Amino acid sequence: MGKINVITGRGGTGKSTFTTLFTRYVHANPLLLIDLDPDESLAKMLGVDLEKESKCSVSDALSKIIAKGKASKGRDDTPDLLRRMMEQGEIIYRDKKFDLITLGTKFSPGCYCLPDEMIKDTLRNINKNYELVLVDSPAGLEHLNRKVTPDIEDLFVILDPSDKSAKHIERIKYVTKGVNITCKNFYLVGNYRFTDEIEDYLLKTGEKYLGRIAYDPLVREHNLKGESLFKLPEDSPSSTSVKNILREAGYVLV
Ligand SMILES: Nc1ncnc2c1ncn2[C@@H]1O[C@H](COP(=O)(O)OP(=O)(O)O)[C@@H](O)[C@H]1O
Ligand SMILES: [Mg+2]
Repeated sequence: MGKINVITGRGGTGKSTFTTLFTRYVHANPLLLIDLDPDESLAKMLGVDLEKESKCSVSDALSKIIAKGKASKGRDDTPDLLRRMMEQGEIIYRDKKFDLITLGTKFSPGCYCLPDEMIKDTLRNINKNYELVLVDSPAGLEHLNRKVTPDIEDLFVILDPSDKSAKHIERIKYVTKGVNITCKNFYLVGNYRFTDEIEDYLLKTGEKYLGRIAYDPLVREHNLKGESLFKLPEDSPSSTSVKNILREAGYVLV
């Protein structure tokens, strides 16, 4: 069984940036990435154009299946059809270093139930094929509530320096416990806006604080231009700090 790690935190804290640099520097093969955020920004940071690669998100795949089903008035074999699309390579993008699945945007108003079920089903089925699975989350804790990923090895919480984030730690613990999500390691990571003061505070909370991601103007520049973060220099502040954070969590790096 592969380990499932989840990267969570408030909006704009740097979760996808961290996930991308995690992917770049961790020694794990094969590695699966799952983007649960409807903004689908992870692919771009990884340097992947899913449209060009003719890959669709889980939500888009479901929309296609449902549209066809309505036309043919067929019985509800949606999960089987989706599994088939998955097997035929219409959803999973395969790169040298990683495979990638994106959840996509809501396919019907207000409800993620079916796409969530499909991601859960996929994880149950293909998790064993991977050494490591990294799940990049949307903002907030809704995805934990939806229990898309039940058994987590390492939960990385990316924090920004606001008060809300400190409260966020307690809320995440409360939510994971409340919905029976198990997580072996609960890790805190400071984002690029962290200050020494808030770092001191976190060190006193008794939680496992792995360090902070350094501010890196090149990250901003690459993201604005839509360029892959795999092109950042190896010794850029963000690369160096993410490598240190991963070492602190006991990961072997490439
Ligand atoms: N280490 C960093 N240094 C400078 N800017 C960063 C850094 N990490 C992220 N950012 C910027 O912060 C914004 C949000 O980052 P992103 O990784 O998309 O966050 P999230 O996935 O949590 O929404 C982006 O504009 C990104 O360029
Ligand atoms: Mg993101």
